[in-house]
Amino acid sequence: MTTYRVVIIRGDGIGPEIVDSAVAVLRAVEQLDGGFATDLEYHDAGAGQYLTSGQNLLPETLAACREADAVLKGPVGLPDVRLADGTEAGLLGGVLRTGLDTYANVRPIRLLPGIQAATRFGPGEIDYVIVRENTEGLYASRGRGVANEWAASDVLFMTRPGVERVCRFAFELARKRNGAPRDSIQKVTCVDKSNVLRSFGFFRSIFTEIAVAYPDIATDYLYADAAAQALVMDPSRFDVLVMENFLGDILSDLGGGTVGGIGLCPSGNIGDGNAYFEPIHGSAPALAGRDRANPIGQILTTALLLDHIGQPGAARRIERAIEDVLDSGTVRIGGDGCPVGGTRHATGEIIRRL
Ligand code: IPM
Ligand code: MN
Repeated sequence: MTTYRVVIIRGDGIGPEIVDSAVAVLRAVEQLDGGFATDLEYHDAGAGQYLTSGQNLLPETLAACREADAVLKGPVGLPDVRLADGTEAGLLGGVLRTGLDTYANVRPIRLLPGIQAATRFGPGEIDYVIVRENTEGLYASRGRGVANEWAASDVLFMTRPGVERVCRFAFELARKRNGAPRDSIQKVTCVDKSNVLRSFGFFRSIFTEIAVAYPDIATDYLYADAAAQALVMDPSRFDVLVMENFLGDILSDLGGGTVGGIGLCPSGNIGDGNAYFEPIHGSAPALAGRDRANPIGQILTTALLLDHIGQPGAARRIERAIEDVLDSGTVRIGGDGCPVGGTRHATGEIIRRL
């Protein structure tokens, strides 16, 4: 029996309730599987922690994340809890993504059955992964931009090792997948703005160098604006896409918008030594404590965590249970993105289906 150490950060707003849902699903799948267990260690971090201690992440929490086999994190941040420079105090990306050096932000975009989505495509036709570079790019300027009354500047910064490792990660991921829905061809698409900006030309040329080591994987290139259109109009051509941090932030929400909303979208922040997993949506404080939040993004995030620690069987069970309840209509997502009947009802149905 393998026991994994998992740090749990419940987060702010709807975080605690959807993380509790995800943990209930995790416990259920552990029991069913019988081959592994998780030892959960709870830590507070985010805007709530900032209000009590003046720090959004305590040093001991970062240390615990480093020691753990993986971290399951809820959404963090509250709009009214701000730093002096006007940015949100509760956000953890700046400390966790760089602190744990999780350079690949993995964002699967998959259309699930039973979902009313803003697309004319059906389940099985949208199934790709955005690999967002997670430690540099425009976000390297986080906390370091300069501004006064008349001017403001943030620098987009890329390094050769930084681009190399995220491109390599994307090609390795493509090797493990079944290719693009359209043609089953395993492929990595490089998304950039190399027609305009020097840094993106650098990104593209390093992508091309790395691709040489993966002759079995097809390559494609798209400018980011054209990619935004293609993700909406022609999504089945995509398998894995790799891109700079800020582009990945925007295009992953766009992708989420085509498959029923980011409330359904999981993500993993993965490095060579550490990983943490979180939904891509925010803490939605207006919905907090009302049994309204959609827990599916957080639960699918737990499946990604299980894949990462080496329990793909348990991960597939969770994904299948979610597909089944959505397909059968036992769980329906309303036009507001919330599950009809509430968070607890949806969670209960997923567990019953398991
Ligand atoms: C995300 C989020 C964060 C980001 C925010 C909350 C800082 O939108 O994970 O995509 O921009 O990276
Ligand atoms: Mn985002």
